[in-house]
Amino acid sequence: MRKRIVAGNWKMHKTLEEGLDLARDIRARLQGRCSEEKEVILFPPFIHLTGIAELLKGLTGFHSGGQNCHHKNEGAYTGEISASMLASSGASHVIIGHSERRKYFGEDDALLAAKTERALEAKLTPVFCCGETLEERESEKQFEVVGRQIRKALFHLPEEKIRSLHIAYEPVWAIGTGRSASPEAASEMHAFIRSEVAAQYGRKCADSLSILYGGSVKPGNAAELFAMPDIDGGLIGGASLQAADFEAIFNAL
Ligand code: 13P
Repeated sequence: MRKRIVAGNWKMHKTLEEGLDLARDIRARLQGRCSEEKEVILFPPFIHLTGIAELLKGLTGFHSGGQNCHHKNEGAYTGEISASMLASSGASHVIIGHSERRKYFGEDDALLAAKTERALEAKLTPVFCCGETLEERESEKQFEVVGRQIRKALFHLPEEKIRSLHIAYEPVWAIGTGRSASPEAASEMHAFIRSEVAAQYGRKCADSLSILYGGSVKPGNAAELFAMPDIDGGLIGGASLQAADFEAIFNAL
């Protein structure tokens, strides 16, 4: 089902106590305002997940997820965490392929395909991230790059699996820079992603997909981004660390 979603990627921020306080504050502001069609997802650091799942238990439209998972289900991989471990902590979602993982941890298309499979096997909803660098946009390769990222990591999956995930378009040049993509540029890419999915899986499947935008979404620009027809919500970094800003962005949905 196509949903409207505001998700907060906390990245490596907040101690456990600070994170639980933030989650409580967000819950107090948004409780009763989320639904099956209009969701909030919190992506805190791993150690917060159990506590946050407890705080959100029983609330409709309120979810939590991991920022990453390993591509195998278990084994001697010191420091890693598997999709099934995330699920056992109460998480329902997982971010796969964030550009910071691609850049700092060398994650490539084949690895991300495997991570997506493990996530789906664990019954987690992957939020699959794609997006081009500044250099790629300046050389007008953005459609080629994003097209490749989704095709290589996702298009081996059967249609019912594609229907059970979300995609986040996050142009790398817009992340943490204060320079968001314009609503038109973001929307153009979202429409492209949807058309690629339609070409592979049919229009009905493509129209059921939630495609989020991420990259310097703030209270001041969220409404114009979310007003675009192919933008179904946002994956928020910096502005998700303040409950008031996160609430204002939710209000823009
Ligand atoms: P910012 O909102 O801080 O630009 O981060 C976006 C992001 O990377 C979300 O995953």
